[in-house]
Amino acid sequence: SRQWRGVIREYADRLDVTDATPIVTLGEGGTPLLPAPALSRRTGADVWVKFEGMNPTGSFKDRGMTLAVTKAVEHGAKVVIAASTGNTSASAAAYAAHAGITAAVLVPEGRIAMGKLSQAIAHNAKLLQVQGNFDDCLDLARELAATYPVHLVNSVNNDRIEGQKTAAFEVVEVLGDAPDLHFIPVGNAGNYTAYTRGYREDVAAGNATRMPRMFGFQASGSAPIVRGEPVKNPETIASAIRIGNPASWELALQARDETDGYFGAIDDDKILEAQRILSTEVGIFVEPASAISVAGLLERSAAGAVPSGARVVLTVTGHGLKDPQWALRLPDGSEVKPTVVPVDVVAIAQVLGLSA
Ligand code: F0G
Repeated sequence: SRQWRGVIREYADRLDVTDATPIVTLGEGGTPLLPAPALSRRTGADVWVKFEGMNPTGSFKDRGMTLAVTKAVEHGAKVVIAASTGNTSASAAAYAAHAGITAAVLVPEGRIAMGKLSQAIAHNAKLLQVQGNFDDCLDLARELAATYPVHLVNSVNNDRIEGQKTAAFEVVEVLGDAPDLHFIPVGNAGNYTAYTRGYREDVAAGNATRMPRMFGFQASGSAPIVRGEPVKNPETIASAIRIGNPASWELALQARDETDGYFGAIDDDKILEAQRILSTEVGIFVEPASAISVAGLLERSAAGAVPSGARVVLTVTGHGLKDPQWALRLPDGSEVKPTVVPVDVVAIAQVLGLSA
């Protein structure tokens, strides 16, 4: 048996690395692409889910971070810096720890999920809570990297996009070609850009016969690309994509035009409903930002924009354990209180509705 070696080693011929590159990896990539029969039944399409929560720190960020930190080390950097809504900070912290360097991360105060905050702390990042939003954090990180000896590992760093394009390679390997439609959450639009690049390279290499139409989704309260202008105070329960001025905006519009793609906005209640559908009917638990791919599919399907039998891939970007509070809340906002039972078989059988 053979162990998956992480995306740099697995795709060395398709990334800018040499035999001398000091690879920093935690075994990222090689994530499951799972058929989702319940979503296929609901939409009449052939739906697959790329479960990126299965990466080492629980999100797709690891694919880009392995290359970004590898390159930082190759260039002699001792400190990497990133702005983050949570997942990037968790990933940067873990890869920096593995490399024996420092991660400095800027996050919006009080606005990132507890799981992600604890990851950054666990991996000993210098975590600073900025009294501003994510867009402020990114401006600060870029300015710091321009002025001080710190290496920026946000997705404005092309190494991040390069590493993340490998997810598209994996999809094509499993399906034998690109899908017809690809649904993906959008924050900075780095991942939307990365998948488009990966598919484009697969077509050029003869691995795929076509590009999928790239369908990206933002939360309604944080939908600058859909609205066509920055959002000053972005709001959504999907904290990972609470972004008002996406870093890869221009690249994303190019990718949309190249693939005959689409950007849509989804309300928070639909995001939570989709999260529940995915966890209860498919068995995959994702954080709210990731569930927007599912919500987007259901919305586009209801709008008649998903042809029957179309092959559809949904990227779900982060694990549900990162931000578990939403699963413990009912749609009416009340808290779920699991039933308490005595140490008594008959009483438990009764509660479970079992009869001998
Ligand atoms: N899904 C999750 C779970 C994310 O954490 C992010 C971005 C996205 C989707 C959107 O990806 O920015 O490439 O369009 N999170 C960043 C962070 C901003 O700091 O962790 P994108």
